[in-house]
Amino acid sequence: MKLARIAILLAVAAFSIPQHLFAQEILAATPPMGWNSWNKFQCNVDENLIRQTADAMVKSGMKDAGYQYVVIDDCWQTARDKGGNIIADPEHFPSGIKALADYVHSKGLKFGIYSDAGEKTCAGRPASRGHEFQDARQYAAWGVDYLKYDWCNTSTQDARGSYALMRDALNAAGRPIVFSLCEWGTAKPWLWGNGIGNLWRTTGDIQDRWAGRKEWKPGDCCSNGMLDIVDAEDGLESYAGPGHWNDPDMLEVGNGGMTLPEYHAHFSLWAILAAPLISGNDLRDMKPEIQEILTNKEVIAVDQDKLGRQGRRVRKDGDLEVWARPLEGGNRSAVLLNRGTVEKSITVKWGDLDYPGQMSADVRDLWQKKDLGKFKGEFSAPVAPHSAVMITIKP
Ligand code: GLA
Repeated sequence: MKLARIAILLAVAAFSIPQHLFAQEILAATPPMGWNSWNKFQCNVDENLIRQTADAMVKSGMKDAGYQYVVIDDCWQTARDKGGNIIADPEHFPSGIKALADYVHSKGLKFGIYSDAGEKTCAGRPASRGHEFQDARQYAAWGVDYLKYDWCNTSTQDARGSYALMRDALNAAGRPIVFSLCEWGTAKPWLWGNGIGNLWRTTGDIQDRWAGRKEWKPGDCCSNGMLDIVDAEDGLESYAGPGHWNDPDMLEVGNGGMTLPEYHAHFSLWAILAAPLISGNDLRDMKPEIQEILTNKEVIAVDQDKLGRQGRRVRKDGDLEVWARPLEGGNRSAVLLNRGTVEKSITVKWGDLDYPGQMSADVRDLWQKKDLGKFKGEFSAPVAPHSAVMITIKP
């Protein structure tokens, strides 16, 4: 009798917890991994590109390495019909979005799409303001698994309220859809994003260069080099965790603007930051050395560590930095970053990683894929200019 009553109470309690909280624990328990069309293709998207990208994700080993979501960014949509339903560009997506989602699913992958909280998207296409529930229902009917939701043309809209409205619309549509907030950090989404979305952009757009901010046009802020975004992440680590991640933007690995060592550093830093790993290059035409970076399973394992603790900068000495994060089971991972133009030795001290200062620990190099032996108290390595060494430390 007593047991039956407890069971009823538990069932009632479960029903009174808001649905999105359930969904969030399941969705994006580790940072989402996938591909997005924007960084490489901008508005040059069509259904062939998306199909071929899904094929390439499987063939290249990226699917095996954990990449899952194939996301079309801006420019897939052209208009709304008389009933207000969003219409995919008939010239570039003649088979329609449902058929495309089905194709991506048939490869064992997931499908994502893009919209915007304002009147128009950043590329001037119809956005979701006033159509939130209608669009969310449409996405669910198409089989969408991931929504990136941008912030252009939002006038005086309140960011938190606008994103919460779409969160409610997605919940009402009844399909689990990872919700990616693309608000560029303007209204500090890390302070309110947990409970609304699964990831939130922390800065303006990344560009395919090592460092240096550039104005879009005079007085109009800015695009970021890779390291400018990394700098903006420091201090935000306590806001991230399973189901709710800081998003330092999509990867530029393979797009040609950085050297290979710079791309190693880029990928290492994204992993130490527990960042979503959304590749942004042409997967159909990848050089082996780029494929090797994107599919390095040991680096990806750090990114996807179940503890979900975002790393932080634990030491800075001019151009030489150490970034580190704790891993499940008491291990740590560290990135030894040389921002400068001359090779230098960088030291990581166990004391900086909240370990006893004189402890002995095994060190493994994740790019050389080599055990380096036992080290007492600290580890030092020469680090080439504009590059990084990435290690795990096991006491
Ligand atoms: C904004 C976003 C980008 C991309 C473009 C599309 O700039 O931050 O990631 O989605 O819009 O127009």
